[in-house]
Amino acid sequence: MPAAEQPQQHKYLLDESEMPTRWYNIVPDLPVPPPPPLHPATHEPIGPDDLAPLFPMALIAQEVSPERYIDIPVEVQDVYRLWRPSPLFRARRLEKALGTPARLYYKYEGVSPAGSHKPNTAVPQAFYNAREGVKKITTETGAGQWGTALAFACTLFGLQSEIWQVGASFDQKPYRAMMMEAFGGTVHRSPSPLTEAGRRIRAEREDHPGSLGIAISEAVEAAAGDPQAKYALGSVLNHVLLHQTIIGEEALLQLAKAGEERLDLVVGCTGGGSNFAGLAFPIIREKLAGRFDPEIRAVEPASCPSLTRGTYAYDFGDTAGLAPMVKMHTLGHEFVPDPIHAGGLRYHGMSPLLSHMYELGMLTAKAVPQTECFDAGILFARTEGILPAPEPTHALAEAMREARRCAQTGEEKVIVTALCGHGHFDLAAYDSYLSGRMVDEEVTQERLAEGLASIPEL
Ligand SMILES: Cc1ncc(COP(=O)(O)O)c(C=O)c1O
Repeated sequence: MPAAEQPQQHKYLLDESEMPTRWYNIVPDLPVPPPPPLHPATHEPIGPDDLAPLFPMALIAQEVSPERYIDIPVEVQDVYRLWRPSPLFRARRLEKALGTPARLYYKYEGVSPAGSHKPNTAVPQAFYNAREGVKKITTETGAGQWGTALAFACTLFGLQSEIWQVGASFDQKPYRAMMMEAFGGTVHRSPSPLTEAGRRIRAEREDHPGSLGIAISEAVEAAAGDPQAKYALGSVLNHVLLHQTIIGEEALLQLAKAGEERLDLVVGCTGGGSNFAGLAFPIIREKLAGRFDPEIRAVEPASCPSLTRGTYAYDFGDTAGLAPMVKMHTLGHEFVPDPIHAGGLRYHGMSPLLSHMYELGMLTAKAVPQTECFDAGILFARTEGILPAPEPTHALAEAMREARRCAQTGEEKVIVTALCGHGHFDLAAYDSYLSGRMVDEEVTQERLAEGLASIPEL
């Protein structure tokens, strides 16, 4: 058969029996260990006992683990197999539309029950909490993806879930709250009148659009006041990034199936950094071992540019200052990002582990305005047939910039991106874009300075 008529492979699949059974912890492979978290009141390094009111011991142990690999419990593997291994696609139609000689791959996490990568960590977090006798988990949600994932995971392990959804997202996406409720969760619009942190913000403005920082304060406060409850975070922390590494472990096996021996660019969107780290960390391990040498690039919204315009400093992970202080790239814990449609990327800080690696020069970062992201999302939908969530359109926009550059230079770069969720609940955002109502907000130097001024002096 002539080459042009050969059937082309679109997706690279793994059998359930090939699903990795260990998570990869990058910390022991770093040339310099990351700085420790500090107690929000004493500013001293925190120990396991300080975290115990919020997290079960198994997760605290993972947070500070010196082990390179951690076994995935069989109960968690069993749930993962409902949707894992997830597919790796070669974006052949998109490549054609871009006229690029680059080879573009995307690892698709939208096949999960919640529609994103978030169940990869929600399931083990619910499992460990249930095993330690916890009855309820509280959390925040920005895009609604994490809250859905946690409600789903809690139901499977017999736990209650109580979720504070960022106001802007609650208003834009009513069906997300309904889905969380369908899975058995209880959902509140944040800032809510139920917590001290929420009431303080509502006193300034009752219809406040909220932020992830505020919603985290509410969920932490609720867990701290209930001995039967613990708190769960859907991003940022080491154990969350650890659980997401199953994405990159699978992707490595799938790229081998695709016959790829080189890799030039790994690109992912970053809110708190978990989907990006999940794809990138196992690849960085191979890079450190000299197997290939890709650039590792994080992409954030121009409206919430923590890596590209933030300061690397100790700051609170939440607005009210209840959560531990971590050293990270931050816009200041009082910075309230514009209500852009990528709700999952509206976080003032960045994962401390990724921030540390950024300082070590192990990754690069770009900020992209939201209309360019939706341009990319629509082209992707019209070529590959998947409507992406607004968050991964940031990664797609950057991948497309690179693929277009390759069209100019003729380079056959191999680009891998994390398509971390679908956008089926984000149609109001697509409507805003398609009807020409979407705007790109500029973060002025003045607003930036105001946010940065809230970083505490130690
Ligand atoms: C689909 C999707 N992508 C990305 C993110 C950002 O989180 P992270 O940077 O931890 O992957 C979120 C967070 O809610 C999300 O729902």
